[in-house]
This record gives sequence, structure tokens and C-alpha cells, in this order.
Amino acid sequence: MRILSGIQPSGALHLGNYFGMMRPALELQEKGEAFYFIANYHSMTSLFDAEERRKNTLDVALDFLACGLDPKRTVFFRQSDVPEVTELSWLLSTVTPMGLLERAHSYKDKVAKGIAPSHGLFAYPVLMAADILIYDSNVVPVGRDQKQHVEMTRDIAIKFNEQYGQTFVIPEPQIRDEAAVVPGTDGQKMSKSYGNTIEIFGEEKAIRKKIMGIVMDSRTPAEPKPDAGKNLALQLLKFVAPAEVAKDFENRLRAGGLGYGDLKKAMFENYWNYFAEARKKRAELAANLDHVNGVLAGGAAKARTLAQNVLKRARKNCGLE
Ligand code: ADP
Ligand code: TRP
Repeated sequence: MRILSGIQPSGALHLGNYFGMMRPALELQEKGEAFYFIANYHSMTSLFDAEERRKNTLDVALDFLACGLDPKRTVFFRQSDVPEVTELSWLLSTVTPMGLLERAHSYKDKVAKGIAPSHGLFAYPVLMAADILIYDSNVVPVGRDQKQHVEMTRDIAIKFNEQYGQTFVIPEPQIRDEAAVVPGTDGQKMSKSYGNTIEIFGEEKAIRKKIMGIVMDSRTPAEPKPDAGKNLALQLLKFVAPAEVAKDFENRLRAGGLGYGDLKKAMFENYWNYFAEARKKRAELAANLDHVNGVLAGGAAKARTLAQNVLKRARKNCGLE
């Protein structure tokens, strides 16, 4: 089973990305042959700063490798290191109905948010289809927001197969369980666009400040808190503390006697410990960028061999060869 997913290079990852996307992706490494790439071509539809793209790409690579992506098992690469995908994107675009793209929620949402509606932004799902189809992928793990894109990929692949004969494997989306939605420091869903994030590898002082700054109600420490389950610091603690530790804090909060300051301090300390090993690994990787670039180059070489085969099949079937 080939598992494929792309990750937008949008900078340093936060706890929401970690528990919502990265950890499930790392777990899937055991379940099949995983192909994970950094979608830097896609990032060009909404980010227009070259240096920032370069930095974000490296940040995501470091974050994934530090958190346990195993390059011996998993093919990890930069999207743009397999330029064949842009050629396949053209082939696919010729069988993609305009109406299909016009119905894309993600396109409409992005335009509504003020992103300039370029041709690239409109054609985004076609490039994504090429990403998926060029590796004969079976399973595509994505968040709910990307489900429609995978369905569009299926439609495009079926159309191409009908027109030119059996060419592409039809992939299945695997939608990640939404149970793991991580709240941000203001209680909304954690997201870069809300400025409420806790980075996985944040700077110690800055993160401590963010966590200690979480706003709580004005009840005294002694007061019992029967609504402890709704407490934001406790919700965050549950992600990073061993279950029995989190349970103990919950009980103390319920019973009364635990101050919010102590709870937030525990949250910070558990967060800090949770990522201690990965933090050490990340520092080592950051000091050895040749190794990181070597991993990405090795991944690209493997991915490219496969991509060239599938592209050749498509070129033959549609009469280019
Ligand atoms: P952001 O909202 O910070 O811009 P992205 O949209 O780039 O984050 O997120 C990439 C992936 O990380 C999403 O597809 C989603 O699966 C996951 N993710 C992001 N924020 C959260 C969150 N607060 N809780 C759970 N998963 C999240
Ligand atoms: N569009 C995806 C996102 O924003 C990233 C992506 C690009 C992707 N190509 C892909 C995901 C192929 C899965 C498969 O999250």
C-alpha cells in the first residue's frame, strides 16, 4: 500500500499541526510505503517571498525529521525536486472540466480571504491530482479541508483513464479523525491565522510567556471547579502530559485548591519535556544541514524514478510517445 501526502511549507509547526497532522502521518509510516513531500510548488499560490519559502521548507523538513520521520522507511522530498509532476499536471488539466475547478471550496475560501485569484490558485487541485497520481498512490491521508481535492483527483483520474485507457491508480482519501483538534491560547482552534499558536519547537521564554498569559476566569484557587473539563490549560495539558498526571490535575481543579498559575506552569513544563528529545535531535539536524539536504535528495531520487515511469505511461497512452 502506497501512502502519499503533501505538507505545505508554512513555517515552524505548532501543537495543532503536531497532534492533528504530523503524529498521525508518522504513525502511518508503519502501515505501508509512505511518501511525504513538502508542497513548495503549491505554496507559490499564496506566498510570494522567496527567502521565506526557502526557510519554511527547511523548517518543515527539520520538524518532521526531529519528530521521528524515518528516511529509511519513508520517502521524504521536496515537491519541486520532481519537476515531472508539473508536466503531468498539464496532461491532467486537459481532461479537467472548468466546472469541477469552479466548485472547489478551497479556491473560493482563499479568494474570499483576499488571496489574489491567479491561474495557479485556480489550477491548484490539478497539480495536487498530479502529485497523487504520479506515484500510483493508494491512500491519501489529509485533513477534512482537503477531502474535496482528493475527490477531484479521483474524478480527473477516471476521466483520463476513460479517455486514454487504464493509466492511473484511483486513490482513496483517508480523512484524519477530528477528535484531535488542539485549542490555541485563546480557546479557538489553534491556527497561525489566529495568532494563538504554541510552536512545537518554540523558544523557551516566549512559549512560557504565551502559556502563562492564557486568560482564565477570576475564581479563587480554593473554589471547586466542576467545569474543569472546559479549562483551556487543562485541555492543553492533556495533550502533552502522561494520562495519570493530567487526571491528577483535573481532580485537583475539580476539588478546589489548585491555582491557575500552577496549572499553567505544569502545562509549560510538560510541553517542554514532551518535546525534549525531539528538540535535541532538531538542534543536531540544524547543525548538520548537509545531512538534511542529503535525506531530501535521496527521497527525491527515489520519488523521481517512480514519477518518470508513471509519466511515461501517461505520455504513451495519450499519444505523446
Ligand atoms: P494553520 O491553521 O496554522 O495555518 P494549517 O492549515 O497549515 O495550519 O494546518 C496543516 C494541517 O495541520 C491541517 O490540515 C490540519 O490537519 C492540522 N491542524 C492545524 N491546526 C490544527 C489544530 N488546531 N488541531 C488539529 N489539527 C490541526
Ligand atoms: N493541499 C494540501 C494542503 O494544503 C497539500 C498537498 C499538496 C497535498 N499536494 C498534495 C496533500 C497531495 C495530499 C496529497 O494541506
